Amino acid sequence: MLPNVLEVARRLIQERVEAGAVVVDATMGNGHDTLFLARLVGERGKVIAYDIQPQALEQTRQRLIQENVLERATLLLASHEEIDRISEPVSAIMFNLGYLPGGNKAITTQAASTRKAIAAGLRVLKPGGIMTIVVYWGHAAGVPEKAEVEAYCAELPQRDYLVLKYQYLNQRNQAPFLLAIEKRVSS
Ligand SMILES: C[S@@+](CC[C@H](N)C(=O)[O-])C[C@H]1O[C@@H](n2cnc3c(N)ncnc32)[C@H](O)[C@@H]1O
Repeated sequence: MLPNVLEVARRLIQERVEAGAVVVDATMGNGHDTLFLARLVGERGKVIAYDIQPQALEQTRQRLIQENVLERATLLLASHEEIDRISEPVSAIMFNLGYLPGGNKAITTQAASTRKAIAAGLRVLKPGGIMTIVVYWGHAAGVPEKAEVEAYCAELPQRDYLVLKYQYLNQRNQAPFLLAIEKRVSS
């Protein structure tokens, strides 16, 4: 079967990230992506992860403890706009937009802060590095966020970035899609 958007995001990251890398999970949620990244970077690597909800941080912390990889992660109760404080180049950044599954559906990522975080992420991304953005837009704040994110990504200069969109066209109910941005080596 063809892979879903999250599987493609993970494959693209897996193909590019080496053990020992520094990577970012911009939307920690229940920690599935943080765990995926922590395994990928190995003992010498580091995952910096953000969420604005204490519940997300705690779920993620427990998941990483269970898998014995907590020391590879820095879990921050902060908005992903703070990515601009990172001072080292990062190899990959994952965004998984929307609300916390099993949590308060009214607390979601938002157009303006998501755009700022993407821009900050692209500044700290290494040449050859990748950002993946899974856009779930089947909620009230999701529609303007989708428009903002797509418009921003579509305008990125071709000389500096490769931008991909992956989406099933025949799914009902506002099918989620993936945007993947590779920072070109020459930029
Ligand atoms: C779809 S969930 C992420 C799922 C997660 N990647 C996983 O593997 O379980 C989106 C998360 O983004 C968080 N979020 C919302 N606004 C945020 C912001 N400004 N900065 C960081 N996280 C935010 C929400 O609290 C929610 O937990």
